[in-house]
This record gives sequence, C-alpha cells and structure tokens, in this order.
Amino acid sequence: MYVERLDSSWLKHPFLFSKLKEIKSENQVKKLKTAGVKSVYINTELGLDVFDPPHAMNSAQQAVQSPVSDPAQETDSSDGEAINPPEETEPVPLFQEIETARSLYSSATQFVRNFFQDARAGKIVDYKEAVPLVEGIIESVFRNPYALSILANLRLHEEYTYTHSVNVAAMAVVFGKSLALPRKELIDLGVGGLYHDVGKFRISDEILKKPGELSRQEYEVIKKHPAIGYKLIQNHTELGEKPLRIILEHHERFDGMGYPRGLRGSSVCKAANMVSVVDTYDALTADRAYRKAADPHFALRTMYLERKERYYYNLLEQFIKCLGIYPVGSFVKLTTGHYAIVIEANPFYPLSPTVKIMLDKNMKRRSPEVIKLSEFLNGQRDRISIVEGLDPEKLTFKRRLLEQAVFA
Ligand SMILES: [Fe+2]
Ligand SMILES: [Fe+2]
Repeated sequence: MYVERLDSSWLKHPFLFSKLKEIKSENQVKKLKTAGVKSVYINTELGLDVFDPPHAMNSAQQAVQSPVSDPAQETDSSDGEAINPPEETEPVPLFQEIETARSLYSSATQFVRNFFQDARAGKIVDYKEAVPLVEGIIESVFRNPYALSILANLRLHEEYTYTHSVNVAAMAVVFGKSLALPRKELIDLGVGGLYHDVGKFRISDEILKKPGELSRQEYEVIKKHPAIGYKLIQNHTELGEKPLRIILEHHERFDGMGYPRGLRGSSVCKAANMVSVVDTYDALTADRAYRKAADPHFALRTMYLERKERYYYNLLEQFIKCLGIYPVGSFVKLTTGHYAIVIEANPFYPLSPTVKIMLDKNMKRRSPEVIKLSEFLNGQRDRISIVEGLDPEKLTFKRRLLEQAVFA
C-alpha cells in the first residue's frame, strides 16, 4: 500500500520527516497505530487498494479538517476583549508582493536599529512607529504570507540583532494568521516580536557575538535581557500588556526550565510561547558567530525533538503545519534529480509545496521553472516530489540562489 500522507496526527508519528511511502508489513501498520495515526491517504495507482476506499477517504478527510487541539482556541485570561478579525485583503502572487515586502522589511530593520541605538545612548525609545509598522506587516502577510517569510530567510541586512527582531515580528504574525487569531492579537505578536530582545541593548558585543561557547557568567548576563527589556518598556502602557509579557517571557519554557522566572505550563503567556517558537526557529536558521545556519527543514527537525518540554501543547505542530515540512527558503532535491528552492508552503499537503527549480541534475544553472508539487498528487501526471532537504553547510551558494529564485 502506497501512503500519500497521514491524518492530522501525522506530526506525532515515529516516521516524521522520514521517507514513509510504502507500507509493506503488518508491523509498519502496528507502529502507525501505536503512534495514533487513525487514517491515511493512499495512492492506488502506485500501490494496493483497501476494501472500502470511500469510507477510508472520508475519515482521512475529516481528520485533516479537524486538527489536533488548536492553541488559538486556548485563550489567556487577558485575551477576553472581543476583537474583529482582520479585514479581507486581496491575496496576490509572491512575485507581486515581494518588492513591497522588501521595502517594508527595510523600514522595519531601520526602525529596530534606531531604537536599539537610542536605548544604548540612553535616549527616549520610539514606540509610536511600532504599531503602524506591524500593521504594514499584517497587510503584507494577508496579501501573501510567503514574501516576508522568504525575506526573513534571506536576511538582506547583515546585522543579526536587527534582522532577527524583524524576522520574529513577521514570522509571529504569519504564525498567528495561520491560527486565525484576531487582528489585535496579531498586532500584539508583531509588536512583541519587534521588541522581544530590546533588553540586549545592555549586553556587550563581546558576549552577544562571541564565537565560542559562553561561560557560565556570560550566560547569566544574557539571561538578564528579558527583565532589562521589560523594565525599559514597562511604562509605555500604550503598547498594551501582551507585548510586555512577550518581552519578559519569551525564554520561559513549558516545563519550567526557562528564564528569568522559571514559569511553568499555562502561567507562561501563550503569545510569549508563540514568539519563543518563532525566536528559536529564526535563531537556528541564521548564521551565528558560533555556528552555521541550519536549513529551515533541519531547524524544524531540531525543534521537534524538544517540543514537549518547551512549548504549549501542539504549538510546535501548529507551527510546522503553518510552515510546511519544507518551509519557504528550503533547498531541496526532487525525484527528477533537479534542485529547487521552496517558495510557497502548502498547508493541506505539507510535503508538497510550490518550488522553483534552479539547478539541473549536475547542480548547474538551468532556466528557472515554478512547479506546484501538489498538482502531481492526483496521479494524472508523472509524479514529482521532494526526495530530501539539503544541508546548506555544503552549499555556500544557497543564499545567492535564493535571491535569484525570489527576485529574478
Ligand atoms: Fe531573547
Ligand atoms: Fe530573540
């Protein structure tokens, strides 16, 4: 039997990220059942059928449409205010949105640079621009959620601290949108994302950019940045309570092993825990002084290993569903032997995003071609799928390729 994809609990199955395709033995079926998989999509053109296909398909469909408990439904006590959802924004293709997103990304980076520099110089930090900037981010994400995500991956400006803050704000909005959060909560996530590391203005570059492992004392200094940031911003009540909690609690963990207060379980603000997911993802996918960037696909794998300790129930699974197994910016090899960049996720078929083929089988440039891998799932065309994500450490040219894929 050829398994096309699993039901909504596929994120928990023991073969996650592996090349599960063909079920050949009872033992494999048992393993899937033990992992909680209740139904699967099969491709009867590639493998055996079952006795009652219509029923099997219906239950799979149902499972996919009723995902595991949704963190968006679990509200904090401070979320009680009734808020209108964002107004409908006309979606546009990635290539139409990318230039607008690029200028937005530049303005946001400049804004973050200014407030860090002002904080360092002891000047009044600008809070007025944050909300309009985040509103611009929200509009862009509703027009096309992948434009800012790709720019986040590209890191057009070199200074990590600034681009990181913008990336976290943008990706937090993308994440919040995927959970259908109301506009006010998207603004809180974006503003909290922009300011989440503002407390680092007090930490020296020697520590922030240290190429090696931090000493115990240096780590203790780093651990102060949430409280420092909170103190700097706490009197600016116009920002609201949520962004403040994001600043203070984005390093708290669900198991109580985080800092600064070691909060546990639901005493951690959920918006802060969402920013924590995005924060870790962005940090892992960036080049740092002490290690190379991980490809988005590999970053998610790393985070998945610690999902229960660090995050609210299912929060990481929701994030992976939002980004796809191969998030935008991933460099992948296809079954045709060609190499491609992922440019759009597919929430319904996480293994079948839209990709842009950039290199031939010999890793030589070829004319770019955009293909939606989901269009190859129905068996009417020769199947093309992703064989594997590639480790960018071996691919020094990836960034240039990504730029060409997006802007060419
Ligand atoms: Fe932080
Ligand atoms: Fe951060």
